[in-house]
Amino acid sequence: MLLKNAKLYKQDGKWDILITNGNIQQISQTTESKAEDEEVIDLDGKIVLPPYVEPHIHLDYVLTAGTPRWNQSGSVFEGIEIWSERKQIVKETKEDIKKRAMEAVRMQMKHGIQHVRTHVDVSDPTLKGLEALLEVKEEVKKYMDIQIVALPQEGLYSKPEGESLLRKALEMGADVVGGIPHYEPTREDGVRSVICALDLAEEFGKLVDIHCDEIDDDQSRYLEVLAAEALKRNMGHLVTASHTTAMASYSNAYTYKLFQTLKKAGVHFIALPKANLHLQGRFDSHPVRRGLTRVKEMLNEGINVCFGLDSIKDPWYPLGDGNLMPVVDVGLHACHMTDHDNIVKALDLVTTNGARTLDIMEKYGVKEGNQANLIVIDSDSEYEAIRTQAPVLYSIRNGEIIVKTEPARTEMAL
Ligand code: FE2
Repeated sequence: MLLKNAKLYKQDGKWDILITNGNIQQISQTTESKAEDEEVIDLDGKIVLPPYVEPHIHLDYVLTAGTPRWNQSGSVFEGIEIWSERKQIVKETKEDIKKRAMEAVRMQMKHGIQHVRTHVDVSDPTLKGLEALLEVKEEVKKYMDIQIVALPQEGLYSKPEGESLLRKALEMGADVVGGIPHYEPTREDGVRSVICALDLAEEFGKLVDIHCDEIDDDQSRYLEVLAAEALKRNMGHLVTASHTTAMASYSNAYTYKLFQTLKKAGVHFIALPKANLHLQGRFDSHPVRRGLTRVKEMLNEGINVCFGLDSIKDPWYPLGDGNLMPVVDVGLHACHMTDHDNIVKALDLVTTNGARTLDIMEKYGVKEGNQANLIVIDSDSEYEAIRTQAPVLYSIRNGEIIVKTEPARTEMAL
């Protein structure tokens, strides 16, 4: 296959991408010549970039909002209560969970995502959510790579069996150790849960991704524990802090000190702009906090931050269709990143920065020798791609087109 007249993300000029045996064989300046027997697609200057990365979703929760009831307060805590109630009332089978997850995977695939990190609730002693997602992971691997995080959603120390269930989930094949320290019964339990996650990650050779400080409490400071412990163990590059919304409420003096540890540790951050704009600030009267972590400030300090969606119609967030482009749009607004420089590199937040977080950079990127995994979006400039929310025209994996979308056509009198 030959992709002609491509604009490579963040590069000038027109390029031809030759794909042979599922790999990118050559990327060269566009010429008039073309091989006779190749399938040729003329991209007419559209942007080619590596596939989108969804670093934080809950595929076991998708499409469940409203059962058994809707989240009226909009808070994280009511979401957890509803999920716990649902497990008692709605007796889903593994197949039911798989069906919902597969529907979400198809939404993500349509929008150019080929790499996903999903959390799965391992507070449920049956671990059927994990079983379901392990099967989904296997069944979709031709189209998508999925990492699974074992998340003790109801707290590691809220039940006696919490730690053994987490351990079992890792033995069953979860790729990443999760945690939720701000939801543990006491501060000490929260600290213990972070240490436990890092211990298990070292023991099993896994990554770590903690739901960390997802609360509007300036005293919620598990991030410093996570980063300092990761630094001591020299494993920051394998560790991710998700949400960290409390950071928005920290004093500047404390944040300055915290950033010194974060920079040394090299931990990754996932901000969830749509979910956290919705969930945070629920206990505020005006002014209401935006509830997002300090994305712009961390990026300016060289700390890796990426964006994710978090939810598709679940007890925490009622909307979402898997598409990351609106997440970028909302995130740029919410984080005061609507200046030109941040707009033109905004797609880093859902491509390379996500890939670094998932620790997949070795094989990621549109370059010669790599697997031909890439997307084409309907824009010829980085700036206009964001302004117009450019849809994905092609998603190509191992040199095969797995998604093709015709752009919508509108006729107007004017
Ligand atoms: Fe989450």
